[in-house]
Amino acid sequence: MFLWRYLTLLLLTTAHTCKAKKCGRFTDLHLGHSFIGTSLKVRLLLYTRHNDVCGVLLSHTNLTQHPQFNMSKPTTFVVHGYRPTGSPPVWLYITKMLLDREDMNAILVDWNHGATTLDYLRAVKTTRKVSDNLTAFIKMMQDHGASLSSIHMIGVSLGAHISGMVGANFNGSIGRITGLDVAGPSFNNKPPEDRLDPTDAQFVDVLHTDTDALGFREPLGHIDFYANGGADQPGCPKTIFSGGSYFKCDHQKSVFLFLDTVNRTCFTRAYPCSSYEDFLAGKCLNCDRFGDAGCPIFGYDVIQWKDKLLKLNQEKYFFTTNADSPYCKTNYKVDVMIWNKSERWGYITIKLFDGNKEAVATIDHEASEFRKFTETKMLAQFDSDVQSVKKVSIMFTTGQVLQPKRTLRLLRVRLTHLEVKKPLCRYDVLLQENTEVTFSPLPCEESHF
Ligand SMILES: *[C@@H]1O[C@H](CO)[C@@H](O)[C@H](O)[C@H]1NC(C)=O
Ligand SMILES: *[C@@H]1O[C@H](CO)[C@@H](O)[C@H](O)[C@H]1NC(C)=O
Ligand SMILES: *[C@@H]1O[C@H](CO)[C@@H](O)[C@H](O)[C@H]1NC(C)=O
Ligand SMILES: *[C@@H]1O[C@H](CO)[C@@H](O)[C@H](O)[C@H]1NC(C)=O
Ligand SMILES: *[C@@H]1O[C@H](CO)[C@@H](O)[C@H](O)[C@H]1NC(C)=O
Ligand SMILES: *[C@@H]1O[C@H](CO)[C@@H](O)[C@H](O)[C@H]1NC(C)=O
Repeated sequence: MFLWRYLTLLLLTTAHTCKAKKCGRFTDLHLGHSFIGTSLKVRLLLYTRHNDVCGVLLSHTNLTQHPQFNMSKPTTFVVHGYRPTGSPPVWLYITKMLLDREDMNAILVDWNHGATTLDYLRAVKTTRKVSDNLTAFIKMMQDHGASLSSIHMIGVSLGAHISGMVGANFNGSIGRITGLDVAGPSFNNKPPEDRLDPTDAQFVDVLHTDTDALGFREPLGHIDFYANGGADQPGCPKTIFSGGSYFKCDHQKSVFLFLDTVNRTCFTRAYPCSSYEDFLAGKCLNCDRFGDAGCPIFGYDVIQWKDKLLKLNQEKYFFTTNADSPYCKTNYKVDVMIWNKSERWGYITIKLFDGNKEAVATIDHEASEFRKFTETKMLAQFDSDVQSVKKVSIMFTTGQVLQPKRTLRLLRVRLTHLEVKKPLCRYDVLLQENTEVTFSPLPCEESHF
């Protein structure tokens, strides 16, 4: 009898301490659930600087039981999309990264029950219910003193449309919605009220990474970034033979590109342009309309361009990335002028060295044309930033193997870092096709031209 009571007491206390320490976790389902289909549950996990790794499962009816949920602080909701396999998203650490960046309430919206089904259209139908649920929750937050303008919703894929519907329920008074590769299938061609659009929040910023498959094609926000043109991402498999990642790699890349800006790994300017081809050709580097601020920096900090962007028309903004983090590239404008009489077509590879580090840019999206005494302007996008350039190497190739090797005599080559702006030059460089020529750059003499 005594032992029995002792055991019960022991069990109760362990149960109690476990409960106190138990962290709310994102629902983990599997393919079996997906086959049967799941019915909607909306779980809200709160992370703050007091509990940045241990989520608190929030009540939908009573906020007074969550003292760590401070309505005077900004609140960021992160909303995932369709989950065909039921597994949690790999980027759940986003809440920790947001908290490292800013003191806020970071709320992970877990609607895995609902998003997990083989039937995509069923998940699409569920989005309206999720948005109504979140709307009721945010109304309750308002009753506790939260302001709509301090709310930021980060929506991934279908989660971006959910955020848009919540925003529309509040007539666009929510502070900001960030759409990360907003879902395309069954939303492309839909009218604005049935999808994310710029009227859904005070500021709507969107990243496109998979416009040819799972992502939305057209601009949806006050600013729309098209990474690497928006369709195919470097480092992602190009064929279906690479297995499952083929389907989601481009789509998921949107989150990782955004995360690199949350932790300030990357500052990547994006340039407004009518097409990716024109951007790659260096035709869209003019940022005058943004004044001293320059063209918008992609990601978390683009909010600083809000006032200016609200006055401009919807347009596509382009930048390119590396295959892995750090994703950011370093852009240079390159102009060359040649001496040879006949014109030349070809591709240029440039390397920059500072003694330790090497950065490479290959300008090969199309053959560049070089003509006598005519400036050929190119955009060179280096995989990293070399601070003080000591040596430069250039290689020219025509891509033709059957014809005799060509030469290209450069009267002048000028490299201008788009941020630092102090140009580097070299005069009279003879390039033999497929042979790297290395030189030390000189300050540019304006008197030459
Ligand atoms: C939101 O969803 C939760 C769990 O699925 C539920 O308990 C709650 O009542 C819902 N809220 C509304 C307003 O429907
Ligand atoms: C809400 O939670 C607080 C703290 O746990 C509790 O004191 C209060 O009675 C609850 N209110 C309702 C209406 O359940
Ligand atoms: C809530 O946040 C505000 C602003 O950061 C702070 O001044 C206040 O002390 C916080 N309240 C509590 C109870 O922590
Ligand atoms: C949004 O606007 C409609 C129509 O003007 C109004 O009925 C509704 O109450 C507004 N909702 C909010 C949350 O302000
Ligand atoms: C920023 O986050 C990415 C992961 O998304 C990581 O690879 C990178 O190392 C982080 N950078 C810093 C400076 O913490
Ligand atoms: C181009 O110019 C270089 C240097 O003047 C010369 O050696 C070369 O033969 C020229 N090539 C052609 C095809 O004109």
